[in-house]
Amino acid sequence: MAVFASGTGSNAQKIIDHFKEHPQVRVALIVSNKSTAGVLDKAREAGIPTLLIEKEAFFRGNAYVPALQAAGIDFIVLAGFLWKVPAELIKAYPARIINIHPALLPSYGGKGMYGNFVHEAVIAARESHSGITIHYVDEQYDHGATIFQASCPVLPDDTPETLAARIHQLEHQHYPKVIEELLLTQVVKNQNS
Ligand code: GRF
Repeated sequence: MAVFASGTGSNAQKIIDHFKEHPQVRVALIVSNKSTAGVLDKAREAGIPTLLIEKEAFFRGNAYVPALQAAGIDFIVLAGFLWKVPAELIKAYPARIINIHPALLPSYGGKGMYGNFVHEAVIAARESHSGITIHYVDEQYDHGATIFQASCPVLPDDTPETLAARIHQLEHQHYPKVIEELLLTQVVKNQNS
């Protein structure tokens, strides 16, 4: 699989650790749109190849499909990747691109709903719960079919930062396992077809 990330990459790190010795699944590439993203250092430390992508080629070129195919990628995991995924890439990887969102979709999703903006909105609306959503990626932000959700309480004295920390824990606990289950189901399906 390839992991796409724009930021520090704490989820990417958990995914890398989870699949380190895995007999069937390998994190073969870390992709980022930001040369200074912490995730690129994490990839280098783990000895995983990296690919820095540029806007023009991603949105108006070939969406890096040939490069991904050349790297043997058959599944794409978004982990804090802030660019929209172009149709070209979705077509090349049907039902094979997933994302994690730090809220219970369909609430608190869509353009501009990322990072602390999500948690600020949840707190402002006095929600009693928030959580995480792992979903397939389609051509709209935070829109594809839901694969998994888990929730946690929003406490009365939460700040966006304390809520973010609780949500991050939930993400780290579940994202690698959900990816593993999905991929192993696909391996079985491919063996039977
Ligand atoms: C996560 O909260 C994820 O839900 C969102 O972006 C954040 C990435 O965090 N899509 P990290 O870079 O993995 O720490």
